[in-house]
Amino acid sequence: MNKKILYSIGDSFVYRGPKYTTWSSMLADKLNYIDANNGMAGTSNDRTFRSVIRDISRVETEGKLWTELTGDIDCKLKDLFIVVGWTNPFRFDWYNDGEFFSTRYWEKAIFSTRNNPRVDFTFIDEVTLPFVEPVNTLVRFFNQIITLKNLLEHKKIKNIFYNCFFPFDENTIEYFENLIEEIENNKPKSLIGFDNPDTYYSLVPLWKQVPDDYKKYNQVQHITNENLDETLHPKGDGNKMWSDFLFNVTERKYSYTSRSMFPSTSRDLPYQTFGGEIGVRDMEHRFKIMNLPDSFEGKTVLDIGCNAGVVCVEAKKRGAKRVVGIDNNDGYIEVAKEISNDLDLDIEYYVGDINVELGHLKEIIGNEKFDYVFALAVWGHIDKGKFAGAVNYYTKEICWFEGHAFGFDHGTDWSGDSEANLRDWFKTHLNYKEIENIGLTTDRSHRHNFKLIYKLQ
Ligand SMILES: C[S@@+](CC[C@H](N)C(=O)[O-])C[C@H]1O[C@@H](n2cnc3c(N)ncnc32)[C@H](O)[C@@H]1O
Repeated sequence: MNKKILYSIGDSFVYRGPKYTTWSSMLADKLNYIDANNGMAGTSNDRTFRSVIRDISRVETEGKLWTELTGDIDCKLKDLFIVVGWTNPFRFDWYNDGEFFSTRYWEKAIFSTRNNPRVDFTFIDEVTLPFVEPVNTLVRFFNQIITLKNLLEHKKIKNIFYNCFFPFDENTIEYFENLIEEIENNKPKSLIGFDNPDTYYSLVPLWKQVPDDYKKYNQVQHITNENLDETLHPKGDGNKMWSDFLFNVTERKYSYTSRSMFPSTSRDLPYQTFGGEIGVRDMEHRFKIMNLPDSFEGKTVLDIGCNAGVVCVEAKKRGAKRVVGIDNNDGYIEVAKEISNDLDLDIEYYVGDINVELGHLKEIIGNEKFDYVFALAVWGHIDKGKFAGAVNYYTKEICWFEGHAFGFDHGTDWSGDSEANLRDWFKTHLNYKEIENIGLTTDRSHRHNFKLIYKLQ
C-alpha cells in the first residue's frame, strides 16, 4: 500500500520556523505518514483556499503532489489526509477608516521583535480598507471554509479543519449578530441590502453552515498562549501538544462515523462502535460475551451481514488467515473496505444478499467453507430458509449467532427471538453437533448469543 500523506496547510501553526519541530512532522511521524507541510507558502486564508484546490486538482489529474518539503511525489486522492488551519481573517484586513478594528490578537503579536526575516508585515500600515471590508471579509472567509470542506467531503478526502487564532465559541453567533447589527447601524448607503440576514449572503446563516470541526478545534485553546512565542508561532511544547491533540482527533476521524458517506440514514449513530467512536452496539462487550478465542490463527472467517466490518477487523487482528464479510448494503461495504484499507488489513468484502439462492452466494464468495461463521443480529432481516442453507453450507467448525431483543422491545414484538423459539428453530433447520447459549448481550437490549458447534466437514 502507498504511504499516506499528511498534507497540512494554513497559517502560522503550520509554519516551519528554523527553530521548531512542527506539529505536522510529529503527527506524520506518529501516523507513519509522509509530512507534506505546505506552510512555507505563508498562507493567508485566500492562498490556503487556492492552494488546496490547485494541489488536489493536480493529484486527481496527474497523480502528483508538490510541496517544498517533499518535492514532487506520487499521490492519489485516497492517500491524502488534509489538515487545514484557518487564521483570524481580521488579522490582516479588518480596518475601519485606517484604524485597526480588532486588536484582540494583534496586541499579543509584537511583530517588531520577530526575528524571522522571511515574513514581512510592513504592508499592514500601508493598507487601508473601507468599512465594508469586515462584512466582505467574513462572507468570503466563511464561503471559502464551506466550499473547501464540501469539496473535500465530495471527493472523499479525509480532512480536518481548525482555526488557528480566532476563538470561535458558543458566543460566536451572538458575536456575529451584534456585529451585523453594528454594521447595519453604520452602514453606508452602498451596503443597503447586502447583509440582510434573510439573504443567502448573511453572516449568521453562513456561520451555521461552517463545519463543526472548524468550530471545535481551536488550536490556541488547546495549546494555550504560554506555548506561543511573541510572534504567535508555537514553541516546541505547543507543537507537541497540538500534535498529540490532533493525533487523537485523527484517530477519531478515521473511524467511520465522521465520514460523510456513512450510509446509515435511520440512526444518529452507526451500528458498530469502532475506533473510539460510539456506535449503537458496544463491540467490546459483545466480543466478551461471545467469548472469542484469543487467537484465530490459521482460521477462515465469514461474517454474514458484516455492516462496517468491525467483526472482520477483530478476526483479522486475532490472526485469521482469510476473512470475508458480506452485506447487502453497498454503503456499509464501502465503509468497511475503507476501514480495512486504513488499517492495512487484508479483508475481502462483498456486496451480497443472504436472501438469494445459495448458488448465487457461491458465485460471490466462492465454494470454500469457513472455520468460523458469524451471523450476528441479522436474524430479523433475512429469509430464514436461505439463511439456514448458507450457514449449514459454509460453517465448518463454529457459527456464532446473535438474535435480537426478545419480548417486546423497541416498540416491536421480537418474541420470535426467545431462547426457546430460537433453539427450536435451530434444531429443525441447522446441522450443528452441539449448541451452547453463551450469554446475553445487554448493550442495546437483551439478546441471546449462541455458539453452534458443527461437525468438522
Ligand atoms: C443489525 S445489523 C448487524 C450488523 C452486524 N452483523 C453486527 O451484529 O454488528 C444488520 C446487518 O445485516 C445487513 N443485512 C440485512 N439484510 C441482509 C441481507 N439480506 N443480506 C446481507 N446482509 C443483510 C444490514 O445491512 C446490516 O448491516
